[in-house]
Amino acid sequence: MTEALIELAHVWKIFGEGEAETVAVRDVSLTIEKGEFVAIIGTSGSGKSTLMNQIGILDTPTRGDVFINHHKVSDMSENERARVRRVELGFVFQQFNLIPTFTVLENVEIPMVLKEVEMDERREKASLILDSLELRHRLNYYPGQLSGGQQQRVAIARALVNDPGIILADEPTGNLDTKSGAMVFDILNSLRDQGKTIVLITHDPNLAGKTERTIRMQDGEVV
Ligand SMILES: Nc1ncnc2c1ncn2[C@@H]1O[C@H](COP(=O)(O)OP(=O)(O)OP(=O)(O)O)[C@@H](O)[C@H]1O
Ligand SMILES: [Mg+2]
Repeated sequence: MTEALIELAHVWKIFGEGEAETVAVRDVSLTIEKGEFVAIIGTSGSGKSTLMNQIGILDTPTRGDVFINHHKVSDMSENERARVRRVELGFVFQQFNLIPTFTVLENVEIPMVLKEVEMDERREKASLILDSLELRHRLNYYPGQLSGGQQQRVAIARALVNDPGIILADEPTGNLDTKSGAMVFDILNSLRDQGKTIVLITHDPNLAGKTERTIRMQDGEVV
């Protein structure tokens, strides 16, 4: 049985006005089922990140509706949107976005601090997940002391720590060498095997070819 987890209905995102107007997303409708691993590809500027930001409730569409788990995101208050982001969504970005003055362990604890989880439980959960991503020897390192591949695994641990159903990854392998990129891809694949829904933006046709479905964007449209 399939179940629509993410649904976009005639979503538009327009930046600027008049001469400066850019239609970043043009009338996109799509459905992503629970448990799917979907790749989004397309040239630079085709609207991939803008589209993902609509799915991730990081932005609001100019027109159209986004549904997560059948809940219409546009009808929600900012508090509810933040709650859905925290509970349902995990984010991974090309630049890792780790806090440089926090240790590996502290970075992974951040989402749980926001959820007001007790310190002991935070430490334990963060350690467990870092362990599973082969970072047990790096808990007290700072991001600047890690390789790119290690930093991205810390970012993945942080995305996973609240056990979200959906992982949104925007070019997570973009700053990595082939081997580290393959490892990150394999981690995403194993998360899919655990029942998570994965949306991956990538420039790498090899990686896109390994997912179940590829959405191609061109000039803001899905083609
Ligand atoms: N905040 C913004 N303000 C104005 N224009 C924007 C904004 N964000 C994106 N755009 C424009 O929207 C278009 C789509 O941008 P987007 O970042 O979604 O592309 P992308 O497919 O993710 O590209 P890349 O592969 O380079 O990351 C671009 O023309 C961009 O300049
Ligand atoms: Mg982008």
